[in-house]
Amino acid sequence: MPLEHSRIRTFEDYQDAYRRSVETPEQFWADVAEPFTWRRKWTSVLKADMVDGHNEWYGGAKLNITENCLDRHLATRGNKLALIWEPNDPKTRQIRYTYRELHQQVCQFANVLLNNGVEKGDRVCLYMPMIPQLAIAVLACARIGAVHSVIFAGFSSTAIADRVNDAQASVVLTSDGLNRGPKQIPVKRVVDEALESCPSVRRVIVVEHLGWPVHMQEGRDVWYHEEAQEAAKTCPAEEIDAEDMLFILYTSGSTGKPKGVVHTTAGYMVWADYTFRNVFQVEENDIYWCTADIGWVTGHSYLLYGPLLNGATTLMFEGVPTYPDAGRFWEVIDKHGVTVFYTAPTAIRSLMATPLDNVLSYSLDSLRILGSVGEPINEEAWHWYHTHVGKERCPVIDTWWQTETGGIMISALAGVSPTKPAHAGQPLPGVQPVLLNQEGQELEGNDQEGYLAIKRPWPGIIRTTYGDHERAKQTYFGPYPGYYFTGDGARRDENGLYRIIGRVDDVINVSGHRFGTAEIENAINENDNVVESAVVGYPHDVKGQGIYAFVICRDGACANDADKPRVEASIIETVVAQIGKIAKPDKIQMVSGLPKTRSGKIMRRILRKVAEGETSNIGDVTTLLDPAVVEEIINGRK
Ligand code: PRX
Repeated sequence: MPLEHSRIRTFEDYQDAYRRSVETPEQFWADVAEPFTWRRKWTSVLKADMVDGHNEWYGGAKLNITENCLDRHLATRGNKLALIWEPNDPKTRQIRYTYRELHQQVCQFANVLLNNGVEKGDRVCLYMPMIPQLAIAVLACARIGAVHSVIFAGFSSTAIADRVNDAQASVVLTSDGLNRGPKQIPVKRVVDEALESCPSVRRVIVVEHLGWPVHMQEGRDVWYHEEAQEAAKTCPAEEIDAEDMLFILYTSGSTGKPKGVVHTTAGYMVWADYTFRNVFQVEENDIYWCTADIGWVTGHSYLLYGPLLNGATTLMFEGVPTYPDAGRFWEVIDKHGVTVFYTAPTAIRSLMATPLDNVLSYSLDSLRILGSVGEPINEEAWHWYHTHVGKERCPVIDTWWQTETGGIMISALAGVSPTKPAHAGQPLPGVQPVLLNQEGQELEGNDQEGYLAIKRPWPGIIRTTYGDHERAKQTYFGPYPGYYFTGDGARRDENGLYRIIGRVDDVINVSGHRFGTAEIENAINENDNVVESAVVGYPHDVKGQGIYAFVICRDGACANDADKPRVEASIIETVVAQIGKIAKPDKIQMVSGLPKTRSGKIMRRILRKVAEGETSNIGDVTTLLDPAVVEEIINGRK
């Protein structure tokens, strides 16, 4: 793929592309899609339906995304590095694959899947560390038309089982264990526990990583390295329909159960490719590093698919920013000559809190572009990133998007369009954002604040929630028919730049990870000591938002203060077992009641104010069933 194709180089280019994408969207997206490898071209570019949410792109086309990520680069970029893997421990071996080698590895893994009976359309769940085999396995699924569903390897066995069962996966890919900083975690054991309640799974393929002994269940579990010995290194790519599922990725919403966001093949491919090239202004010799885990959408679109579609060199990192010390990110950048760096505000904030020497002792000369994703970046973090990492010479782009959008929606294009601290900026071509008021009317003009919604479909739009289209319809298209509703609130400044304020629904964003408050409450309520709970987010210096849980204990369970620490620890243990460590409440307050209206609805507004420490301005409590409970909650605030 020529990097010049549908390339925006100047602000005038951007304005022109944007105008064309609005005036003649079908022509615009047909032009963008032209140079991909298609087995058959589309019969219609777009069938739009923003009421029921049945949007279709490139209908009738046939293709395979891995031919576009790998095969088509072989002639011109066969010996170019495709993937650089940096291990958790800097003293151990890096791994590098050229496009030719990665192609072979993917084919071989695809053959292992085929030999193990995986067929087109089957769902394959991956619960793996950030090792090259995870990237290879994802692409191997796509090669044969299996639907990949990656589960972040920090989730608990219960969370894995929920996802595997929802996807009705027949095969699970995992490893013996994983490294996370100084810790090693027995991943296979977590999977074994999960699979006790997953009858759909008939095969587990285990990649050897730590060399740990693991229990292999006879008839179900096989080692990848043994299977690979018999697998050929060539594998023709399966022909896939444009709208066939490429992957399912589970994400949290305002209701209890995480939902399986479905992306299909052609539209997602075009969107990941186009947004990557233009937002990061990629050049042939870039070494690009996205620190996200492949278990999240950022890892899908901007560690894997976007870079490989563009023939770029992508770096994959197994470790954490603070191991062996808080200079690790900067050491990796100098070691590999990273030119484009994409990370999350929470990582920046945690590194900001360590001595400045951790960053100043590295040169960081190779860097030319810095990106941020996952949550609002506060001005302090933006300036620190810009000054100490980018040395005031690299544009910082704040990219707003969601699992459901498939790729970046609102962002400056690096070095091309204006940036402003804490502002994502302007929409990408193809994205028509609007701000709505409570009644669903569009707020015209600049200097406005409202609910952020998107007016027209873009190629990467969510297609459905797996197995339950009604849920997708209600969540995204129901609130304001005719629009995709994002769940975020935003402000459009006097120059038309968007600033994302945060979620307006019951979703909290903890270190860039999304959780539904109901999801955490359900987990807490599983604890025997608990009768009821209510969870809200509150501002947290490093995580962006912290988790504050108000808990009503069973009679007598925390009758005296001495019982409370034990009960708290047990509640935390339950949440870790139900969801994973990433959802651990930061604060737990035992209360005798929750502020409920006469109709039984919890007034979260009040709880949020208490959690934020805004107790002098709690607002009207007269509609509460028992206003006295508010006083007690304020007095017991943590
Ligand atoms: O609230 C927004 C926030 O993260 C949500 C999407 O989360 P997820 O689907 O996990 O995807 C994260 C990575 C794309 C959004 O609804 N968010 C994401 N990026 C930003 C952001 N908030 C502010 N600024 C951003 N750049």
